[in-house]
Amino acid sequence: MRIAVVGTGYVGLVTGTCFAEVGIDVTCIDIDQQKIENLKKGILPIYEPGLEEMVLRNTQKERLSFSTDLATSIQGCDAAFIAVGTPPGEDGSADLKYVLAVARAIGQHMSDYLVVVTKSTVPVGTAQKVRQAIEEELAARSANLAFDVASNPEFLKEGAAIEDFLKPDRIVVGVASEKAEEVMQKLYKPFLMNGHPLIFMDIPSAEMTKYAANAMLATKISFMNDIANLCEIMGADVNMVRRGIGSDARIGNKFIYPGIGYGGSCFPKDVKALIRTANENGYQMRVLKSVEEVNEHQKSVLFNKIMNHFQGNLAGKTFAVWGLSFKPKTDDMREAPSLVIIKKLLEQGAQVKAYDPVAMKEAQHLLGDTIQYGKDEYEALIDADALLLVTEWPEFRSPNFTVAGKLMKEKVVFDGRNIYEAKDLAEKGFTYYGIGVKQPVSELKATV
Ligand code: UDX
Repeated sequence: MRIAVVGTGYVGLVTGTCFAEVGIDVTCIDIDQQKIENLKKGILPIYEPGLEEMVLRNTQKERLSFSTDLATSIQGCDAAFIAVGTPPGEDGSADLKYVLAVARAIGQHMSDYLVVVTKSTVPVGTAQKVRQAIEEELAARSANLAFDVASNPEFLKEGAAIEDFLKPDRIVVGVASEKAEEVMQKLYKPFLMNGHPLIFMDIPSAEMTKYAANAMLATKISFMNDIANLCEIMGADVNMVRRGIGSDARIGNKFIYPGIGYGGSCFPKDVKALIRTANENGYQMRVLKSVEEVNEHQKSVLFNKIMNHFQGNLAGKTFAVWGLSFKPKTDDMREAPSLVIIKKLLEQGAQVKAYDPVAMKEAQHLLGDTIQYGKDEYEALIDADALLLVTEWPEFRSPNFTVAGKLMKEKVVFDGRNIYEAKDLAEKGFTYYGIGVKQPVSELKATV
């Protein structure tokens, strides 16, 4: 089989490479010449564990190629996947201009039956717009060609995207014809070895599934953050409560970790877009509006604790920040809570010395020399008034706190991800603040 994947961002590159990995002939297409030149040399635009090796292997086997030429690349393909960006417009709705431009280009250049698959996260009704755009282009050149559209949302987690693609929990495909179903069934057969389902449904339901999945996950996080804040006020420990509820299979023990708010390229954008879509159609997503509100508040929780500890005076203080990316195993800084916290610290006249195992370059683009960057996690601690654990990279999980304590000016830890034990740190002479755990200060209400 042969496919084209348009857009070599995160989703497109992982999708194209994983299809090539199972023996499908894949061309990844992008309008960015530089990006394509780099990919041909094995230089990737993103960091994702295992992806670079997989790109190289499949390029060498000539199952994976890169091109800027959509017109030629879609010839002879069974399917073309649209995986270009859908950035949020000013009003929070997903901007479809890139998706529709690709649809038009496909309509201008296709010469045989093709399934055109939307892979980008797009609002309900987009596949219909894609169909229209292609029809218009075919009509403009009086081409009487059959084609189908399909919706195939991705559920890839950054940092685990390859694993998620190769061994998916489920694959969701929205189709409107048997022929399209057949093509998609053939393409995905190699990924169904683990017995998990390929679920076919109508196109609007597939489009909605993606938003519903992300909105549900964001809801779990905001719910737990709310509970964590209340735990603190009431003298309960959310780590215990989490374990207490997580063993109920109906609730589940995943995605109930409180922290400093969800970030990344998906949750904030998709929650906003779903609220917006509902609103445009005369319906109010009451739960999701609160999910968003809680998340905004949560980004300030760690900062409020810092202010409380230092009695509102951060001027001249130095803070070591461990972790900058929005989550571990990625260099993605989009909507990273670290950015909000750092901005607030700088506004108070504090200094920040940060370290992240992978995202330092990306952070430098955004923060420049407004902060300092440590060579490693220990160097970032030198003369710090406190350590802020912002992203729970595995290498931060078990540091040598005896060494850390000697490097720091004050032995204070603000743990934004609850990865340390208050008791362990107290034994080493540290003052510890977590999220939703018992706090060492009396004015609890003021901190959450
Ligand atoms: C998410 C979805 O998981 C994925 O299925 C979808 O395709 C894209 O969006 P991703 O953005 O890579 O993937 O990150 P994810 O691991 O889901 O984490 C999102 C955010 O939630 C992060 O900021 C993370 O720190 C936060 N989070 C996650 C919590 O605060 N607590 C949790 O228990 C889990």
